[in-house]
Amino acid sequence: MTLRLILRRPDDMHLHLRDGAMLQGVLPESARHFARALVMPNLVPPVVTAAQATAYLARIMAALPEGAAFRPLMTLYLTEDTDPDDVAAAAASGLVTAVKLYPAGATTNSHGGVRDMARVSAVLDRMAEIDLPLCLHGEVTTPEVDIFDREAVFLDTVLDPLRRSHPALRIVMEHITTSQAVAWVRAQGPQVAATITTHHLILNRNHLLVGGIRPHYYCLPVAKREEHRAALVAAATSGEACFFLGTDSAPHVDALKENACGCAGCFTAPNTMALLAHVFENQGRLDRLEAFTSLQGANYYRLAPNEARITLVRHDTPLAQPDQIFTEAGPVTVFNPGFPVHWQVEP
Ligand code: NCD
Ligand code: ZN
Repeated sequence: MTLRLILRRPDDMHLHLRDGAMLQGVLPESARHFARALVMPNLVPPVVTAAQATAYLARIMAALPEGAAFRPLMTLYLTEDTDPDDVAAAAASGLVTAVKLYPAGATTNSHGGVRDMARVSAVLDRMAEIDLPLCLHGEVTTPEVDIFDREAVFLDTVLDPLRRSHPALRIVMEHITTSQAVAWVRAQGPQVAATITTHHLILNRNHLLVGGIRPHYYCLPVAKREEHRAALVAAATSGEACFFLGTDSAPHVDALKENACGCAGCFTAPNTMALLAHVFENQGRLDRLEAFTSLQGANYYRLAPNEARITLVRHDTPLAQPDQIFTEAGPVTVFNPGFPVHWQVEP
């Protein structure tokens, strides 16, 4: 028997579209299923100013396939030199939906990020005033802190003080990976939310490291123990308004992933919806998939839910999965969940 599930078109509230040939190659993969995506600003050079966001938005629109109904929601990359007036103008014109904070050195192209939170305090005050959310990469970068502990330490040393100093600021903790982050987000008020990726609902650190290192499973924050993955699945399928989808689909060409110093990022845009259906079905919670992918994120960002629909179909026999997509920048491996996939978005 084939099962069919009709959902409002989903929104991806954390996506890397890159630029140039890579943008051209990966954008159709998101536009096929998603109505909107919050586009990360960690290009080289980063998207810091409203003028840069305007130019990047134009490049994305130019790369969209004919007839695609897809709206990029732009973000600005917060630096210690960010001008509060520029941010406020970008928000007032509707150009940007959020500002992204990368602790300097935390992840791909984050060297221009924030070293000292005190130096962005004025921008954060202004954002609280105009109700513009701050998205943050929640890991400390202190070399002494073990990479598996970096998110949990960030909660105590950065987020708690930030909540106290800027209680009205709306904060999205991006791509959470630990039970501590799940508990922390739950304990905050409606100003605070978290995105959860598709791959962190599937991977634990054994998948990354047992039986040989799997470079295509390496992402930041790095996958944690199984108990943390289970806490993320419970949060994503809970129906709680503070948890929603941000795939963090982060393409890198294979040559840079399969490398002595491989880049961080999983490319999940092509099969995210099918994999999420699998995860939610396993929990007996297909009834909450739409809330996670299409309602709770839109609500948090004060956007109307999408009116268009997609149909997910469950086939009795597993479907062949795409191994790679081919871009002018080079081949990019599609995330392989390591289990048979029965779900498909109806073309
Ligand atoms: C992202 C990238 O490649 O831009 N990588 C990743 O592993 N998630 C950056 C990020 O979101 O940390
Ligand atoms: Zn990301």
